[in-house]
Amino acid sequence: MKILAIDTSCDDTAAAVTEGRKVLSNELYSQILIHKKWGGVVPDLAMRAHQDHIDEVVERALKKAKVTMKNIDAVAVTYGPGLAIALGVGIAKAKELSLKHNKPLVAVNHMEGHVYSVFAQNSKGNPDFEIEFPYLVLLVSGGHTEMLLMHDHLKYEVLGETLDDAAGEALDKGARMIIDDSVYPGGPVLEKLAHEGDENFLDLPRPMSRSAELDFSYSGLKTALLYALRDMADEHKAEYLHDIAASYQKAVVDSLLIKMRQAMKRTHIDRVAVGGGVAANAYLRKRIRAEVKKRGGSVIFPPVKKLNGDNAAMIGIAACFRAKKGQFVKKIDELDRDARADINTIRF
Ligand code: KG4
Ligand code: ZN
Repeated sequence: MKILAIDTSCDDTAAAVTEGRKVLSNELYSQILIHKKWGGVVPDLAMRAHQDHIDEVVERALKKAKVTMKNIDAVAVTYGPGLAIALGVGIAKAKELSLKHNKPLVAVNHMEGHVYSVFAQNSKGNPDFEIEFPYLVLLVSGGHTEMLLMHDHLKYEVLGETLDDAAGEALDKGARMIIDDSVYPGGPVLEKLAHEGDENFLDLPRPMSRSAELDFSYSGLKTALLYALRDMADEHKAEYLHDIAASYQKAVVDSLLIKMRQAMKRTHIDRVAVGGGVAANAYLRKRIRAEVKKRGGSVIFPPVKKLNGDNAAMIGIAACFRAKKGQFVKKIDELDRDARADINTIRF
C-alpha cells in the first residue's frame, strides 16, 4: 500500500511517500532559519511558512518517489500533538487531497510516528529485521519525553513521561543559557561544543534519580545550571564553554539512562528502541548502546539521520499499520487537530 503522508506539527513542513515500512521519498522544508532569530518557534510564522511550502513539498515527495496521486492508495496526516495552527495546515491539505482524489485518509499521532521511525527501511527494504514485540521505547523529542512499553503494533502503555520540559527542550534552553539567546535548536549545538569537553566539570543534579517513578523532570537541572553560570565570571564561562556543555549534556543523558535502566529492570524487557530528534545525538546513542549491551539486550534507532527529527515518512509507516486494521477516518470533513493528543488517542 502506497501512502502519501504529511506532517506539519511544528516547524518542519514534511511530506513523504511510503510503502509498508519502505521509505520511497521523505521531503522537508525546514523553517529553522525563520525561527532562529526569535530563539524558538513562533506559531504564526510557522503556520504561514507551512501554507507557503506545503504544495511544493508534497509535489517533491511524489516526484522523488516517481508516483502521481493515481498510484497512491491512502493519504496520512498528523492530527496531533503539536502546534494547533501548524497542524491545521497539514490536516487541511490532507483532507483536500483525500477528497479530490478519492483516497482514504489515516490520522496519525505524531509520537506514534516517532515510534515507527525506528522500523523504517530504505526503498530496497533495508534494514530487513522482523519486528518482534514487546519493545521498550524511549521517545526523546523537543516537545515530549516518554517511556513506552509497546506490547504489539499500535499498542502502547505509557510507563513514564516528563513532568515539565522535554529532554530536547531542556537541551535547547540549556544551550541558550550557556551560549546565548539566539541559539536554536540548541541540542546539536551543545553536542558539538561538548565533544571535547570535560563532562565532570560542573556538579549538576540527576533529576528524578531517586524516584521509583519512570517520569522525567528537567526544571531542577535547569535551575542548577542557571546558578552555576550566575556564579561564574564571563571570561571563566568562555574559557570553559566546552566543559560546561559536556557537563550539562551528560546530566540530561544520564537522567534518560537512569530511567531506561529502571524500566528495563522493572519490565524485564531488554529490546529497546529510541526515537525523536534527540536520538540524533551520537553521545546519547553511545551511552544507550553501552547500557543495553551491558544487560545483554538490543537497541535500535532510526536508521538514517533524517528520520530522527520531524519527518513525514514515519507518519506514513505508522499509517500503514493503522490502514491494515482498517482504521481510516470515517468522516473526513470532521477530522480535527488535537494539540495535546496522547499516544493512545485514536482518530478514525
Ligand atoms: O523530534 P523533533 O525534531 O521535534 C519534536 O517533535 O519536538 O525534536 C527536536 C529536538 C530539539 O529539541 C533539538 O534540539 C533536538 O531535538 N535535537 C538534538 C540533536 N538534534 C536535534 N538534541 C541533541 N543532539 C542532537 N544532535
Ligand atoms: Zn517530533
